[in-house]
Amino acid sequence: MNADSPKTKLDLETPALMVDEKRLIGNLKQMQETANSAGVLLRPHCKTHNCPEIAKLQIEMGAKGVCVQDIQHAETMLETGITDIFIANELVEPNKITRLVALQEKAAVKVAVDNLVNAEQIAKTATLHERSVPVIVDVDIGAGRCGVPLNAAPKLAERIARLKGIRLIGVMGYEGQFYSVRSRERRERLTKRVIARLVRIAKLIAKSGFDIPIVSCGITPTASIAANVEGVTEIQPGNYVFYDLMQVKLGVATIDQCAQRILATVISTPNSKRFVVDAGTTTFAFDQAKFPKVIGLQSAIPTEMNQEHLVMRINPKAGRVQVGEKIEFLPYHACTVSNLFDQIYVTNGEQVMATWAVAPRN
Ligand SMILES: Cc1ncc(COP(=O)(O)O)c(C=O)c1O
Repeated sequence: MNADSPKTKLDLETPALMVDEKRLIGNLKQMQETANSAGVLLRPHCKTHNCPEIAKLQIEMGAKGVCVQDIQHAETMLETGITDIFIANELVEPNKITRLVALQEKAAVKVAVDNLVNAEQIAKTATLHERSVPVIVDVDIGAGRCGVPLNAAPKLAERIARLKGIRLIGVMGYEGQFYSVRSRERRERLTKRVIARLVRIAKLIAKSGFDIPIVSCGITPTASIAANVEGVTEIQPGNYVFYDLMQVKLGVATIDQCAQRILATVISTPNSKRFVVDAGTTTFAFDQAKFPKVIGLQSAIPTEMNQEHLVMRINPKAGRVQVGEKIEFLPYHACTVSNLFDQIYVTNGEQVMATWAVAPRN
């Protein structure tokens, strides 16, 4: 930190993105222990933070590597010194594929593939540059997003494995559908079932004579379940670094584990029942259309959010809020909030311990 760096929360210009150091470290340790005790590797998804300093901490604590969502994040993580990188997403633009192939000179950066045309594109570019790209077949295990359908996965894998310029090294699944399953018991039962299907696909491909060393899955609400399904080799949770209100509502984390905070300033107190802070959708994303939780002020409730304003209702009997007062909020969805800031202030109590870059945001 240089002499001008903020030393306490009061020095921060708002809206500011903060992360509580102790909670962050606690969350990182806990997920690492979950992976260790299940005997699987941890490959956290960086899309929650896109912060090289946090990725480095994850590796220092034992993560095997990282997942990222696009080529520019892979490039940044590589510059950071992390070499085991998996782009857990489809890369289809020719320029991005060329960059992926170029990265192979420095590290065997892996990529997800869910169709033959894309695989052929990657293989062709790699062959042209006399390289070989490790690929992981993305299987749709129910999220209904990307991914080859389960029953078509073995055939696709076989065809991919035969392409020159590509090395088939695994399968992955994303069980995002379980974000809508509130019951822990049901989530556990359903997760075990779909992850077992993914493992079965890996075994089928292996039976055809192809080595499948990686079976990657497991997101924050299901990571501890997926990690214990036999045949899974690694988990790729992202949100657990910060947790958020969404995870609290799911029963996956407690409020006390949530490490991410927004610091905002009261800019207007139009009457005794209402105040407004300088943080709206450009701060909170609001992608889930759910308000953040105010920290400390028990009687204050968010009622409306605009681009740069959050309107709060307060019980006047509980006291008045002053213009210029700083207020902390716990976001509903942490991942989309990080992406709106260039830096994260690392805090310990009222102290600002460090400033970490979010790079690249998207
Ligand atoms: C492919 C993939 N893996 C892992 C994750 C991490 O999920 P979560 O943040 O819910 O842990 C995501 C997030 O969307 C993802 O897209």
